[in-house]
Amino acid sequence: MLATAATLTVSAAQAAGDLNVICSADVVICEQLQGDFEAKHDIKVNMVRLSSGESYAKIRAEARNPKTDIWWGGTGDPHLQAASEGLTEKYESEKLGELHAWAQLQAASSGHRTVGVYAGALGWGYNTDILKDKGIAEPGCWADLLKPELKGEVQVANPNSSGTAYTALASLVQIMGEDEAFEYLKKLNDNVSQYTKSGSAPVKAAARGETGLGIVFMHDAIAQAASGFPVKAIAPCEGTGYEIGSMSIVKGAKNMDNAKIWYDWALTPEVQSRMKDAKSFQLPSNKAAEVPPEAPKFEDIKLIDYDFATYGNPETRKRLLERWDNEIGAIAN
Ligand code: G6P
Repeated sequence: MLATAATLTVSAAQAAGDLNVICSADVVICEQLQGDFEAKHDIKVNMVRLSSGESYAKIRAEARNPKTDIWWGGTGDPHLQAASEGLTEKYESEKLGELHAWAQLQAASSGHRTVGVYAGALGWGYNTDILKDKGIAEPGCWADLLKPELKGEVQVANPNSSGTAYTALASLVQIMGEDEAFEYLKKLNDNVSQYTKSGSAPVKAAARGETGLGIVFMHDAIAQAASGFPVKAIAPCEGTGYEIGSMSIVKGAKNMDNAKIWYDWALTPEVQSRMKDAKSFQLPSNKAAEVPPEAPKFEDIKLIDYDFATYGNPETRKRLLERWDNEIGAIAN
């Protein structure tokens, strides 16, 4: 009895206080996680939603005095960059063995400073009504996005702020070669009406009829279709890249115990199986988590062997983003 009481006191003491979370996925899943976590633990979650590149920049800027404890979600490349710059904490969760190989590899390749929480393939979503009205055939290939009839109809995010857009940039470089990819992006710029801050904004705009097409993760396009909008998700015919959505604990986190409680919790099948309730149709990293029927199946998509080690490397990411600023950002409408 006494031992049980003592154990309860200790865990209650550990499980009190605050947790400062940056969430880099869609705001609906971010808020669901916050609510579910607070319902289960006596810990107050202070959450901010930021795109992946912005989150990395915030954590880097605050390295001497961290204001964030845990960074959940967002594309893996900036998590890997943060890991290799020593901005995130080494932690081997007891849940690691329950995860798919791709999620464990993300952890191993970062010296256990990040881990995979979900995966999703890049593609685009288009508004079927708009393209039909304009008599535009379904764009099934990257090459189709350059067609003049799509002028002003394409949106994609800015790769500095958005991990989605960085995944697009790095995927095109891997598919075409770097110089060819930048040539492609220059031509694509003729059709782009806006470079958004957040990665999924382009397909939300397409769903509302503000643009014809948004280059996004396929599951973000499917989320719009599942909400009743006339949106179709496309897997590009030439092949495409994918993300390993990741999670990291910030080095020097003020609420380190609570960060580890969240980390272990977020890797459980129960939490990951609930993602679909927020119309988050990524592939979950825990092998026992339910895969939503809406989630695009990797075996149906022509996926490239995305080189996470290279494109999550600080030198490569910094260099590609500078080149994007000079060659694309500079001519952006
Ligand atoms: C959406 C997707 C996530 C992805 C995230 C990246 O929320 O559903 O799978 O990780 O975008 O966001 P960002 O704004 O950095 O492109």
